[in-house]
Parts: sequence; C-alpha cells; structure tokens
Amino acid sequence: MQEILEQLEQKRQAARLGGGKRRIEAQHARGKLTARERIELLLDPGSFEETDMFVEHRCTDFGMDQQHIPGDGVVTGQGTIDGRLVFVFAQDFTVFGGSLSEAHAEKICKIMDRAMKVGAPVIGLNDSGGARIQEGVASLAGYAEVFQRNVLASGVIPQISVIMGPCAGGAVYSPAMTDFIFMVKDSSYMFVTGPDVVKTVTNEIVSAEELGGAVTHTQRSGVADLAFENDVEALAEVRRLIGFLPANNREKPPVRPTDDPADREEPSLDTLVPSNPNKPYDMKELIFKVVDEGEFFEIAPDFAKNIITGFARIEGSTVGIVANQPMVLAGCLDIDSSRKAARFVRFCDCFNIPIVTFVDVPGFLPGTAQEYGGIIKHGAKLLYAYAEATVPKVTVITRKAYGGAYDVMSSKHLRGDVNYAWPTAEIAVMGPKGAVEIIFRADLGDPAKIEQRTQEYRERFANPFIAAKRGFIDDVIMPHGTRRRIAQSLRWLKNKKLENPWKKHGNIPL
Ligand code: HXC
Repeated sequence: MQEILEQLEQKRQAARLGGGKRRIEAQHARGKLTARERIELLLDPGSFEETDMFVEHRCTDFGMDQQHIPGDGVVTGQGTIDGRLVFVFAQDFTVFGGSLSEAHAEKICKIMDRAMKVGAPVIGLNDSGGARIQEGVASLAGYAEVFQRNVLASGVIPQISVIMGPCAGGAVYSPAMTDFIFMVKDSSYMFVTGPDVVKTVTNEIVSAEELGGAVTHTQRSGVADLAFENDVEALAEVRRLIGFLPANNREKPPVRPTDDPADREEPSLDTLVPSNPNKPYDMKELIFKVVDEGEFFEIAPDFAKNIITGFARIEGSTVGIVANQPMVLAGCLDIDSSRKAARFVRFCDCFNIPIVTFVDVPGFLPGTAQEYGGIIKHGAKLLYAYAEATVPKVTVITRKAYGGAYDVMSSKHLRGDVNYAWPTAEIAVMGPKGAVEIIFRADLGDPAKIEQRTQEYRERFANPFIAAKRGFIDDVIMPHGTRRRIAQSLRWLKNKKLENPWKKHGNIPL
C-alpha cells in the first residue's frame, strides 16, 4: 500500500515538473513565471485544486508517441480569490511550447463547462505556441470547442484572459471573445499573422512587440485593456478586478464594507468646472472624489482617452463608471471611444452592475477619417448599448451635453433612471458659437451683432434649466453633494426591475 501511495506522489512530482528543469529555467530567464507559479500567485494560498494532471495527448505522428508529458501543456482547476470560487487554466510553455492539442483543449473545455454549471468566472493564463502542429486538424477542432464555449459563456460568467507569452493565429480569438484582456509588457504578444508572414505579404518589417505587444494593443488597437510590467503585477490586478465582479449574471456584485460616508461632501467640486467653457479640466478628479475611498479600477486607460471607463464602489457596491474626459479631444465621442464605452456598458448590463455616467461632451468628432471609418455605425454601438441596458443608470451632466451626444450619454430618453445636472451644465443642440453662425448667417459680417446673438443664445440655452423644465433632468444639484445624490439614487434603484421585449437577440450595429 505504502508503495502505491509513493508511486502516486512520484507521478504527481513528474507532472509538476512540466517540460523539465532546463525549460523552466529558460522560462525564468525570460522574466516569465511557470504556469503553476502563476496560479499560485493568482489564487488564495492553498486553495488550488488541480484537475486532469495526468491527461496526455493521443498523437502518434511525428514521433509524438515517444513524447508524453502528463498534463499536456496546460494546468487546469479551480480555487478561490478572496474566498470566492474561480476556475482557471494556465498554459505551460515548458511543455510543447504550451501548444494546444486535442487533449489540452478538452482540459480547458472541462473547466469551462464546470464554471458554467456552477456560475463562476473563468480566468485563462495564455502562453502558447498555438495549434499543436503535429496534431493538425484535431488541434483546430480543439480551438473551436473552446471558442464555442467562450460564446455560450459570454454574459453568463465573467471571462478574463491574461496574455503572458505568445498568442498567435486563430488562438487570439478565444481571448478576443472574453470580457477583459490583460497583457504583460515585453513578454507577450497577440497577432493573427506574425512578423514573417507580414513581411512576405505586405513587405512591412515589424517586430513582434511592435506588431502585437502589450503597448500596441492597449494604446493603438484597443484589443487589450491593461498592460503590466510583469507577471506578478498582472496577476495581482486580476485578483483586484475579480473583487468588483459578481460570480455570474444571476448574482449581484459583491459588497465591500466601507468607512467612507455616503453623504461625504466635496466642496472642491464646486470649482472643478472652469468659468471658460473651452478650458478643460480633469474628469478623473470628479470620479476619485465621488467613489468610495477614491478607488477606481480603470479599464483601457491608454486607449481612447477621451472617454473613461472603469469600476468603483459606492456604499460598498460595485458601479461601472463611464465619463467623457474634457482633457482629451475636448471629451468628444469618436469611433474608438464609442467602441470602448459600448463594450463596457454592455459588460455592466450583463452582470447587474449599475452604470454611473458623467457627461461633458461637445458632440461627435467631425472629419473624413471618422466618417470613412464608420462613426455612424460605431457611435450607434454606444447608443444601442445604453438604450438596451436595464441596470440602474444614473447620469450627471457637469458641463456640455450637446447634440446627438447628449442623447447617447445615458439621457433620460434612453431610460436613464436618474439624470442630474450641475448648475454649470449646458444642454443644447450645439455650442453657442456654432449655433449662432448657422441661425444668424446673415449677420456674419457684423461681429458686434454676432457677439450679442451669441450672448443671447448662451443665456437662453447654455444652462440646465430648459431640460429641467421638461423633466429631462430630474434635478440640478450642487457639485459638492454629487456623491450623496448618486448614493441615494442607487439605494432606491437597488431592486429595479426592467425587461426588454422578448427576442432571440438584438442586432447591435457591429
Ligand atoms: C508544437 C510547438 C509549437 C506548436 C512551439 N512548440 N510551438 N510544438 N506545436 N505550435 C515547441 C517547440 O518545438 C519547442 O519544443 C518548444 O515548443 C519551445 O519552442 P521554441 O521555438 O524553442 O521557443 P521560442 O523560440 O520561444 O519560440 C516560441 C514560438 C515558436 C514563437 C511560439 O515556437 C513558434 O513560432 N511556434 C510555432 C507557432 C505557430 O506557427 N503555431 C501555429 C499557429 S497557427 P522543444 O521540445 O524544443 O522545447 C494556430 C492556429 C490556431 O495556432 C487556429 C485556431 C483556429
């Protein structure tokens, strides 16, 4: 009996060694942790329970029948983060380069199926050479099995991908369908075709880092949400993100007790908006001052900076924040910011997270680049996302809310539950100057007259009271009381029930 027990321990030890000491050292030399080390950092100490440690591939081609490594290049199982259940898979680059075989895919699918059964998030740590070349179409089938599960799980359980090494070819599409993508700088990349193929086809010479590194995807393409210096930092931030999210779409987000009083006043907000309407100010200051303890988990901070998205808490409960940023492009909406915010709003709506929107938007960005790039369809994504969202929606207009962008940014007309405006709000079809130049075109040669008309327009329309008279704004509030008013609104909205008409699914303008 003792011998049998020892054999089991030996088998486990062999599996834990993955591709062997030499490959583990090579992994470390690149500044990367191994799959097991990563899982240890991600989960609460001692909470990981591994599944399928002894699974091996079934391939016999190209000498693979001579090479069997238990676990087959991916470590899977479940554990806890701050005591809450999560499922995890971590590809092991030391075993066949973390490449995905049929058996490797089956392991991932098994934990995804379990996560769906019990309603818990899935976190994927990706570090893989892609399809296991020796397995051919069996590997492609394995990918598709994972993709199918990603789609069925979308909107049911949170799915988070961390890219911690190569991720190329069709393999990128599994992370692409998950809710959030984190990357590690200098050691991870994602692309559909690598630098060599790019050179052959388009003659462009580009490094892997430039083509698909963390900086590229968090600043240029917007494919990834956050870039981190190393594995340790990335995993710590996944833990923090999980702390804001519910386990599944039938649960409410977790509540974290706070000492920050809901009625805390912030007198400095009374002077946040400059008297010159063309002068920018930092919308993040408002966010930090309104949310619990100033803690804000920003999503995609380096992409489309003209809109801010992220999670925070009010009275301990998670809220999704969407805010125009007057410091960048005057806070206007463009293709990238519409896409970024639309996806965030839809995530919040899937997972019962109330949306707080801070508005200072002069309109949509004009220009051929925007029109040819399809701003009509992309802008419509944000409109669609807000309009279909049934979670509590609280909106605060701090300054400009002009034109179509006023409608889009969680207005009363898109079922905004509570719509506040600061006294500095200007809610109108457009800014005074533009408006006067159109409706008083005949006076353009007379600067004094134009100035007088502009002043008239400003007095008449550049304020929140026209909208408030119609009930489009529920109240004009003191900036210093913003936190208290939002907290009160969210409190009475807690049990909001609203359903959209039955349909198979809507047809969002993709
Ligand atoms: C089998 C693979 C592999 C793969 C790497 N390895 N990729 N084995 N299938 N796809 C093995 C190597 O043979 C090597 O084994 C070990 O992993 C480490 O690889 P190295 O090349 O030594 O490492 P490195 O120099 O760091 O290069 C990493 C790499 C490179 C950039 C990922 O290995 C690479 O280009 N691999 C092929 C990538 C690829 O073309 N994959 C298919 C993409 S198509 P030993 O025994 O020497 O340690 C695809 C389609 C998915 O993925 C479609 C889904 C629909």
